[in-house]
Amino acid sequence: MNLIKKILVAQATVVALWAMSAQAATNDDIAERLKPVGEVCIQGEECAAAGGATAAAGGAARSGEDVYGKFCTACHGSGLLNSPKTGDSAAWTARADAAGGLDGLLKHAISGINAMPPKGTCADCSDDELLGAIKHMSGL
Ligand code: HEC
Repeated sequence: MNLIKKILVAQATVVALWAMSAQAATNDDIAERLKPVGEVCIQGEECAAAGGATAAAGGAARSGEDVYGKFCTACHGSGLLNSPKTGDSAAWTARADAAGGLDGLLKHAISGINAMPPKGTCADCSDDELLGAIKHMSGL
């Protein structure tokens, strides 16, 4: 083999390896996209595919601090979009008074209110988990 041929073979090998890894990544992506949106779990049976929502509903609930740190801090940490800021007890007390207490705040957190997205973007949060996050932020 002369030098030119060797170089061409080496390049072809690199391209082939690259193509294989690209293909593998694509197959994974496709498998991910083809996954069913929801899966049925039967009560009383172990649910193999139990994802976040089921685990959250049935199993260990995330603490208010965890939920807050993952979902709510993006806005409430800094008061973004005029959201009541974490630890600003005056602002939270005023809101609780207006909404009818913690229950009222929870209702608004679930449904969303103005720029506040429903469930504060924690779509799989249980009511208790949301309430925990509200308590964590407001100190109420
Ligand atoms: C995209 C930004 C954003 C995120 C993320 C967010 N919030 Fe809010 N939240 C707001 C804004 C803005 C308001 C003020 C809405 C208004 O009254 O106009 C608000 C208000 C609230 C209120 C007060 C409702 C009332 O009755 O006055 C509660 C409770 C609340 N958020 C809970 C949460 C919880 C719990 C999370 C996380 C799970 C969360 N928020 C995540 C933006 C956000």
